[in-house]
Amino acid sequence: TEIMWDVSAAEKGGYEHFMMKEIHEQPKAVRDTIHPRVKDGKIVIDELHMSEEQLKEIHRIYIVACGSAYHAGVSGKYVIEQLSRIPVEVDLASEFRYRNPILDEHCLVIIISQSGETADTLAAMREAKKHGVRTLAVVNVVGSSIAREADDVLYTWAGPEIAVATTKGYTSQLAALYLLGMYLGQTRRTLSQEDYEPMLNELEILPDKMEKLLESKEDIQYLANRYIGLKNVFFLGRGIDYATALEASLKLKEISYVHSEAYAAGELKHGPIALIEKGTLVVGIVTQEALYGKIVSNLVEVKSRGAFVLAVTNEDNTAIEKTADFVFYVPKTLPLFTGLMATVPLQLFAYYVAVAKGYDVDQPRNLAKSVTVE
Ligand code: G6P
Repeated sequence: TEIMWDVSAAEKGGYEHFMMKEIHEQPKAVRDTIHPRVKDGKIVIDELHMSEEQLKEIHRIYIVACGSAYHAGVSGKYVIEQLSRIPVEVDLASEFRYRNPILDEHCLVIIISQSGETADTLAAMREAKKHGVRTLAVVNVVGSSIAREADDVLYTWAGPEIAVATTKGYTSQLAALYLLGMYLGQTRRTLSQEDYEPMLNELEILPDKMEKLLESKEDIQYLANRYIGLKNVFFLGRGIDYATALEASLKLKEISYVHSEAYAAGELKHGPIALIEKGTLVVGIVTQEALYGKIVSNLVEVKSRGAFVLAVTNEDNTAIEKTADFVFYVPKTLPLFTGLMATVPLQLFAYYVAVAKGYDVDQPRNLAKSVTVE
């Protein structure tokens, strides 16, 4: 008998698309990024060749990246500032490289890139180096241009990513930034031992919680099928949830070609509320307990104008059902780590909308995996 091999199906590990395969590889990507750097109850980043003295002298951090990597940076700003009390600016590489940023020897420039080949990101890093500033690259592709030229490299161990729209690349970048934030907090003693231990325990079990997230997808698929006629979507969040909103919105836009925007929820009244009509989908990301009341009042406002409200929230926040029309629950974690939870159902939502519309999920029109020209 003749055995027929479907090579492309084999590469996709039984999944219909690379994107779905990569969504499922996220717990492993995050685990492989975090676990080798946790030793005897401490975070050890051997790749970072900066002395304790140098780390203590940093007075400003710039995070520079494009696309989803930039969104990881927005999340990273909240985490690093909170844990290390170092001011962090996040810049798009295409802006940073031309804006004559204020740099001195006590700055650290963190470059984030899955491919390590994005033209603007590489140029921004070279610009920083020209000013004699130390560069630390968070990169996935080993030996890529950015990895070769950076002073230090903190690899995300996500493995090869094929789908144009990044998933495991992004979440492993978040994991790397959590490590870095905690490492800086530990070295600069801005993070107390009391907070440090439970935080480290939580960091280590994040991959297991992500696995749990991937167990039930039916609700998400159901809602996506119901929403294939979607024209406009707004993603709202506060604090770290705003960073998640940026990424969730980009994901939907990239592969399903639906116009979507992300807003810091407090900005609702400064424009986007004018566009809310009957049936507009508003996705509220609601993981920051301290801000629940604030975001819920934003959701009430859009709902009273006819919006359909989807909330992504912590599993114990069932009170949201009073406000939202539909809820995706995610496992609870520390407020700083929720990006890893809330992003996943929204990646799946984008995926299912694109599949239902019959689009080429892995290779969306006009987009490239790696933008190597300006
Ligand atoms: C392209 C990809 C995005 C990615 C961005 C930055 O636009 O489609 O998924 O986030 O480039 O790429 P990098 O490789 O630098 O992370």
